[in-house]
Amino acid sequence: MNSTANKTHRGQVDALLGIVFGDEGKGKVVDVFTPHYDVVARFAGGPNAGHTIIFDGKKFVLRSIPSGIFDEGKLNIIGNGCVIAPDLFMDEARELESNGYDLRSRLHISNRAHLILPTHRVLDRAYEAAKGKNKVGTTGKGIGPTYSEKASRTGLRVGDIMEGFEAKYAALKARHEQILADLNYTDYDITEEEKRWLQGIDYLRQFVITDTATEINRMLEQGKNVLAEGAQGTMLDIDHGTYPFVSSSSTTTGGVCTGLGVAPNRIGEIFGIFKAYSTRVGSGPFPVELFDETGDLIREVGHEYGAVTGRNRRCGWVDLVALKYAIMINGVTQLIMMKGDVLDGFKTIRACIAYEKDGERVTDMPFDTEGWEPVYRDLPGWDQNLSSMTSKEEFPQTFKDYIAFLESELATPITIVSVGPDREQTIRM
Ligand code: GDP
Ligand code: IMO
Ligand code: MG
Repeated sequence: MNSTANKTHRGQVDALLGIVFGDEGKGKVVDVFTPHYDVVARFAGGPNAGHTIIFDGKKFVLRSIPSGIFDEGKLNIIGNGCVIAPDLFMDEARELESNGYDLRSRLHISNRAHLILPTHRVLDRAYEAAKGKNKVGTTGKGIGPTYSEKASRTGLRVGDIMEGFEAKYAALKARHEQILADLNYTDYDITEEEKRWLQGIDYLRQFVITDTATEINRMLEQGKNVLAEGAQGTMLDIDHGTYPFVSSSSTTTGGVCTGLGVAPNRIGEIFGIFKAYSTRVGSGPFPVELFDETGDLIREVGHEYGAVTGRNRRCGWVDLVALKYAIMINGVTQLIMMKGDVLDGFKTIRACIAYEKDGERVTDMPFDTEGWEPVYRDLPGWDQNLSSMTSKEEFPQTFKDYIAFLESELATPITIVSVGPDREQTIRM
């Protein structure tokens, strides 16, 4: 009896996950959802992420800080599954502080999150240079080397900055310098960068650094609800993405549990977010990629340039093979479709329903997505301007048909449609 009674008061963790190659619009939707939650927590990744939030004519791009930070009174957490660069964190936090957001009271950082050292960033560049033609096209933020270090059990964690840090830092830096010398990679000078990085360490010390897993679980026990903010996307997941062209963290629902320290039975809704078309930044297979003027037009209209690196994002049609796979891996319960407005005025909208190679057709994600050709279903487009619409009743019939087609193919409801970058341009279905 007691356990049932407790259950009704237990809070839950909902997850909002990018389910393609990142940049789906996670930042925007987390910001819109925040009023419904008590806590917003990042569970994976670091400053490789760039989450854009636009409201009241202002634009912010967050990298390590959760997108719930604009809502006063909500706790934001950088979880143990994240990696953090103190210098970049300091820049990001100071920008928010200069805009009047008091971070100290609403941002807690896990003592178990791993630190990105300046030399991790040099190693990132060195490993990429050594790969020649097979570069991953990383963001250069030291993500891969830092997560490798974590797995090698030699990394430094945020909790390490509290005591005897200088010696630990010097030892790890010396080890990295040795690796770089062995690689014959000598084209670097971190003197200035290191100064700012050490200032960043001091700055970090002013924040609440704690066991956020225990903190989150206590709040759940009190009936508080948590929104887990994904970074990157399922196709960049270290296990389930297009390996080796992936990031180095667990970006999926499983990553929510390990990256925050919450049990699977705490997970409630799993929101899978995707765009009405596809993009990818960096190298790696991308069967739906368009190399023609349609791809250029999507890039231009959708402003598909990296929020962090400014790189061109590769553009293509929506990929149902990838989406079905991601829905399966994550257990997505609701879909959120972004950037429908970017496709305004296209005569025909295409959706990839299968991949084909040497006469073989597959609808399940193959081991190696290199060399597969997309099989498309064509649907009629719309002429209207979606971005000015404020309710689903206003949507043109062909856009409604596109949504219905995706819902039926993906066997999952699309419950939110976004028609512009502003908070306000968010429509519940
Ligand atoms: P995230 O990494 O998933 O948070 O996404 P990014 O911020 O990297 O990229 C999404 C981009 O699309 C940002 O520039 C947003 O301002 C913009 N955006 C989000 N939703 C919409 C939408 O519905 N329509 C349009 N046109 N832009 C959007
Ligand atoms: P958000 O959270 C899009 C890509 C990089 C590269 C690969 C590995 O904004 O959606 P890394 O630096 O992580 O080792 O790079 O992953 N990548 C992203 N692409 N959005 C992101 O984050 C990304 N984070 C990493 O371009 O191909
Ligand atoms: Mg992004």
